[in-house]
Amino acid sequence: MTRGAPAYLRNCWYMAGWSTELCEALLRRRILGEPILLFRTTDGVPAALTDRCPHRFAPLSAGTREGDLVRCPYHGLAFDAAGQCVHNPFSTTLPKGATVRHWTIHERDGIAWIWMGDADKADPALIPDFSTLFRDGADPVRGLMPMRAPYEFATDNLMDLSHIEFVHRGSFAGAGVIFAGEHEVRREGDRLHSNWWMPNVPAPGHTYGIYERGLPTDHWLDMRWDAPASMLLEIGATPAGQPRENGVIIHQAHIITPETAETAHYFWASTRSTGVASEQGDTMLYAMMTQAFEQEDKPIIEAAYANLDGCAFWDAKPAFLGIDAGGTRARRLIEELIGREARAA
Ligand code: FES
Ligand SMILES: [Fe+2]
Repeated sequence: MTRGAPAYLRNCWYMAGWSTELCEALLRRRILGEPILLFRTTDGVPAALTDRCPHRFAPLSAGTREGDLVRCPYHGLAFDAAGQCVHNPFSTTLPKGATVRHWTIHERDGIAWIWMGDADKADPALIPDFSTLFRDGADPVRGLMPMRAPYEFATDNLMDLSHIEFVHRGSFAGAGVIFAGEHEVRREGDRLHSNWWMPNVPAPGHTYGIYERGLPTDHWLDMRWDAPASMLLEIGATPAGQPRENGVIIHQAHIITPETAETAHYFWASTRSTGVASEQGDTMLYAMMTQAFEQEDKPIIEAAYANLDGCAFWDAKPAFLGIDAGGTRARRLIEELIGREARAA
């Protein structure tokens, strides 16, 4: 069976961008198939409007800023940050119905989150906590990778880190230690955890320069998932037998936002093993992350999706290995939440 129209969870927060991306310039980003215009007003407040003029549908992002107004590049209607048309260059009368949809946007932890559902249900308390990335003034290394695959395929990849041993031979692979690890997938309310515990293994790569290479360590990879695909990864290692809080720990955000039914925005960020920012260290960290994500994860995720030749995921009858339970349960939980949302409507 071929794929139908995508069913998205609407009443949840999606990452629209890094806060640093929202500025005076007009940024267009397609989210859940909708063209969205993102910018920041002169007093620093983030704004999100549908990026389509209601007159003849030109993209407002191709227009110009005039203070807090956005002027359409086609016939010059001007809109405020709430999406109201406030100036018509051809008349003192404003055209009826000439508004663009305004989307609720909220910033937290250096991330601009957008609510793609009922505006009255947009509760900032539902935003997953990524404050650990910015703890003590840290400014994580971060990026954005476009993906030619639906967002769930990136979730499959992240909730099942067993792929490290095969996909990341050029970067993160750790001499087979994941084969000896214990893996647990756990649900807590509507949150999932997919955690690996690898006791007494040689010091993993993120500790190099801090621990001696070959030092026996206890190593863990704890992935936290919130709908739709907001994941926080803790990568830790401590000298074998020592408590976790003595270890070398880094945190990574992996947050995937559907662009269309077949493409996604993959936002990532990483703190540093030493906790200290340096231009040279950050350049190396950025290079290592982009090598792993863009040269290793992205090609295999995109190739796997393309290889379905239009067949829906479950119809292709995926084989189950056990290690893939995180991705499977995330897919099932999204379906459950979409069903719950439909019943509440
Ligand atoms: S298309 Fe925008 S003013 Fe005509
Ligand atoms: Fe990966």
